[in-house]
Amino acid sequence: MRVPLLDLKAQTASLRAAIDAAIARVVTSGHFILGPEVEGLEVELAALCGTRCAVGVSSGTDALLMSLWALGVGPGDEVVTTPYSFFATVGSIARLGARPVLCDVERGTLNLDCARAAALCTARTKAFVPVHLYGRMARLEVLRAACPRVPIIEDAAQAVGAERQGVRAGAVGLAGCLSFFPSKNLGAFGDGGMVLTSDQSFATRLRSLRAHGSTPGRKYHHEIVGGNFRLDALQAAILRAKLPHLESFSAARARNAARYRALLGGVPIELPPAEEPGERCVYNQFVIRAEKRDVLQDYLKQHGIGTEVYYPVPLHLQPCFAGLGYGPGAFPEAEDAARTSLALPIYPELEAPQLEYVAEQIRAFYGA
Ligand SMILES: Cc1ncc(COP(=O)(O)O)c(C=O)c1O
Repeated sequence: MRVPLLDLKAQTASLRAAIDAAIARVVTSGHFILGPEVEGLEVELAALCGTRCAVGVSSGTDALLMSLWALGVGPGDEVVTTPYSFFATVGSIARLGARPVLCDVERGTLNLDCARAAALCTARTKAFVPVHLYGRMARLEVLRAACPRVPIIEDAAQAVGAERQGVRAGAVGLAGCLSFFPSKNLGAFGDGGMVLTSDQSFATRLRSLRAHGSTPGRKYHHEIVGGNFRLDALQAAILRAKLPHLESFSAARARNAARYRALLGGVPIELPPAEEPGERCVYNQFVIRAEKRDVLQDYLKQHGIGTEVYYPVPLHLQPCFAGLGYGPGAFPEAEDAARTSLALPIYPELEAPQLEYVAEQIRAFYGA
């Protein structure tokens, strides 16, 4: 049996008619830049995530960059974040000339240890950028209570629809950054992203920045310098065709996670922590921890099973961030996660026999 880590074709096939209709709508309208599809998606996602506004942008990376940029982050500023994430989290801070101040992650969730992050706050701290890794929200209530005046820019790229204490990912901080990279829970047919915010003037600034800093309603007049960071109308239309199914995708991911937990009990690996009361994890990834990770990955590959290591090198050990001065041993939890994590197939269209086969092969590897 073959079980890929992700099967985008299966999802496209199941929604083909709606997607084709969405694409045809844009082609017929001739409205390719911003316009009704982007505005429609903004309204629908703001409603789903619980914010007043949403601004469609070119990618999750650009959502982060623009949020920090709109906040005025620059040289001399510090931004506290995690060393265990996709590159863009720390990359966006560095690109603006600010200093990423890194803080280790929690052992179980691999999210930023918010109590320790709060302790790193100084007069130069311009923002926190916590990541809701793998679809589980970080404990932002801890940051808010300890440092109420420091804005939080949530990296919610992997967590659309996740919830904690009654609030959805992206709706806790000043801004929430979503990614529509195809492997995300809400994936486009290319790049795309969104900034969620309930601050109207922040949203207005983002709308200006994504269109070369032009003054809204006054074409070719620029009060600030921006760039081209727009979400494509075609991508927005495709995402709107998928959006009504997001809840069922998330439910299927959660069912798959529960099934893995049931089937992998007693195997000497660490499973992701169970959800806490009031927490809803959307399982963009289901990441186990295994001591013999590389050998296990190889074994599963030989048995037709796709897996992935998110992330093999923590960000403080990337050559481009050597100048930050963090060496090996600086963040033991992040480094241990890099050594032992392995993501298993969890996508919504994964069929029960496929999931059972994955669990069976893991059990066989351990002789369980
Ligand atoms: C945690 C995290 N942050 C940021 C990004 C960047 O998003 P994009 O690929 O849309 O630029 C991603 C995904 O790729 C991500 O997983």
